[in-house]
Amino acid sequence: MKASIAIIGGTGVYDPSMIGDPRDVKVDTPYGTVSLKLGSYAGKDVAFLNRHEEGHSVPPHLVNYRANILALKRLGVRQIIATAAVGSLNERMGTNSLVVIDQFLDFTKARPSTFFEGGANGVIHTDVTHPYCARIRQTMLEAAKAEQLSAHDGGVYVCTEGPRFETPAEIRMYKLLGGDLVGMTNVPEAPLAREAEMCYATVCMVTNFAAGISPQVLTHTEVLDAMKANIENIKRLTMRTIAMLEPEADCECQHALAEFGGFKL
Ligand code: HPA
Repeated sequence: MKASIAIIGGTGVYDPSMIGDPRDVKVDTPYGTVSLKLGSYAGKDVAFLNRHEEGHSVPPHLVNYRANILALKRLGVRQIIATAAVGSLNERMGTNSLVVIDQFLDFTKARPSTFFEGGANGVIHTDVTHPYCARIRQTMLEAAKAEQLSAHDGGVYVCTEGPRFETPAEIRMYKLLGGDLVGMTNVPEAPLAREAEMCYATVCMVTNFAAGISPQVLTHTEVLDAMKANIENIKRLTMRTIAMLEPEADCECQHALAEFGGFKL
């Protein structure tokens, strides 16, 4: 049982047939058991993990992020491509835009956000100057070009606790602070991947303008409908990225804990 590359499918990206010959696998971790699919694409072993599980049954604040990342690590995954549905605060990033984000602002409140809580695991302070893998980001942008899709190079993702949407006042604040997009899942997923010394990048799909910018109130149905309308673009970008990635590629993300002797969980 192994994979070198993983897809973490966010809202609306639930189709494991993106990978060939998908098989159900369960991986045990100290944080819980993770169900995912293993298959292949372009000659590479690929894992597919549905972030919100069967039927979108797990809300963003209750996703078992640590179990998910550790399960992928234990399968041998070195590179993760994640997708995320987001609202937009930036008029240049309209509905249906693809954005390869490069920074985040963390407004989560009550989620386990690290593998290192003292005790046997110790205390580790991870550098997140570049929170997303520059190499995968570049590959995603090249994949978009190859697929003739337009994708924004960079964007600041504001991660809220959810599961409610935001107030217009919150959105005005996030915009003042430099946010471009708002979602509920990229933290702690991205920093946990860094702690686990895995390359990780996210492509966001804008499903709506955020509360107060959008002329109407927000609904989850609107988000799902926009994802459905754009699912082919996300699949093309994701699969082309996988086709272009070297399974054994190495970069600094995979040595993020060198100062602490590496990731040993
Ligand atoms: N806010 C938070 N998360 C989201 C949104 C939003 O407007 N759209 C899609 N995910």
